[in-house]
Amino acid sequence: MQKLAIQGGIPLRGEVRISGAKNAALPIMCASLLTRDTLQLSNVPDLHDAATMRKLLVQMGVTATAEHGTMTLCGAQVDKLEAPYDMVKTMRAAILVLGPLVARFGEARVSLPGGCAIGSRPVDLHIKGLQAMGATISIEHGYIHARAKRLKGARIFFDIVSVTGTENLMMAAALADGVTVLENAAREPEVVALADCLRAMGAQISGDGTDTVTITGVEKLHGAAHRIMPDRIESGTFLVAAAATGGSITLTDTRADILETVLEKLTEAGARIRTGGDRIHLEMSGRPRSVNLRTAPYPAFPTDMQAQFMALNAVADGSAMVVETIFENRFMHVQELRRLGAQIAVEGNTCVVRGVDHLEGATVMATDLRASACLVIAGLVARGETVIDRIYHLDRGYEHIEAKLSQLGANIRRIK
Ligand code: EPZ
Repeated sequence: MQKLAIQGGIPLRGEVRISGAKNAALPIMCASLLTRDTLQLSNVPDLHDAATMRKLLVQMGVTATAEHGTMTLCGAQVDKLEAPYDMVKTMRAAILVLGPLVARFGEARVSLPGGCAIGSRPVDLHIKGLQAMGATISIEHGYIHARAKRLKGARIFFDIVSVTGTENLMMAAALADGVTVLENAAREPEVVALADCLRAMGAQISGDGTDTVTITGVEKLHGAAHRIMPDRIESGTFLVAAAATGGSITLTDTRADILETVLEKLTEAGARIRTGGDRIHLEMSGRPRSVNLRTAPYPAFPTDMQAQFMALNAVADGSAMVVETIFENRFMHVQELRRLGAQIAVEGNTCVVRGVDHLEGATVMATDLRASACLVIAGLVARGETVIDRIYHLDRGYEHIEAKLSQLGANIRRIK
């Protein structure tokens, strides 16, 4: 089990390049199943989840080569229409092969994702949507078995806004017979990125980025080249780390227009932010002020930034209310922060964080991807050494994080 050891108290300073977005790359990799042609991707992040997704696609018969941020995928020889439990259990996003497989091959067997640390996370909306498009679906021995001669366009209403639900059905609808309308669809920038890639492949999609997406199915899709958008959550994570440590950093290869609520909250906490082109600059002097947060679907404050801001609030001046409305168990980082001296009370999906003037380093354990980012930020501000265990969670979603943080002056090292 690998660990990270961090000596806290050093303000982050310097410049860091933001990698391609994990949550854009994963669905776009699955789009390779929709065509016999080649999908040429660039700015693909070097992440554990991207490697897992590539392994899954290769074992289905996709040829997929990756080097230095490019990935070339070709679905011409797909011959296994299954996503096995041992792959799905480590990465919930594997569910994203379901829509493309049924759309192009008329059949799929995809393991139900187990629960995960941040909640039960069912896939009932993915299944309901495919059934509305004419798929026959049965659940056998923990697998979703879906069949359809040819999917038909349908009007589908999402009871709950679902990012991968919207993405799965958008891909399924791209090859369906007729028009599909997704109502109460997710508006995340990663949904728009997938739509951009599908349009480049010949799909007819409009309304992506709003709560109503319309897809007119076509007979076939062709290959395309697509550059993965910057990771807004990685960007937010580095900005919060700089704010918490009272530093001054510049992000490059990023986008400010998809981080508005995060930048607003950082400004409210006392950070001075300048944006321009593909750069965001943040300066913070003195102690941050506490900021109240309420997570909600895009464009509201992102649930994937909640844990990182909890670390900021833990050492801020004042008290903050943090409300998590997306997942029922996304406070796993609270008990670990308490080990570092944080004062946090939890009541259901609400936390009250009373800022303390400093945290004390200790050994803590990562429980999920964004909780581990929270603990890294806490370790960067705590006095003395913090050791974070189970950092495989971190490697799923942050490319070379200790190299990037060291480049910004942090004292951080990986312990085998
Ligand atoms: C995506 O997960 C992201 N993952 C998550 O990022 C992110 O936290 C989440 O969206 C919310 O923004 C990827 O894009 C790969 P949902 P997803 O379907 O699509 C419920 C990270 O840290 N729901 O939008 O799985 C669900 O339980 C990860 O990078 C149903 O009830 O999330 C949750 O409460 C973590 N039935 C809510 O909807 C369904 O069929 C939102 O889930 C689907 C979802």
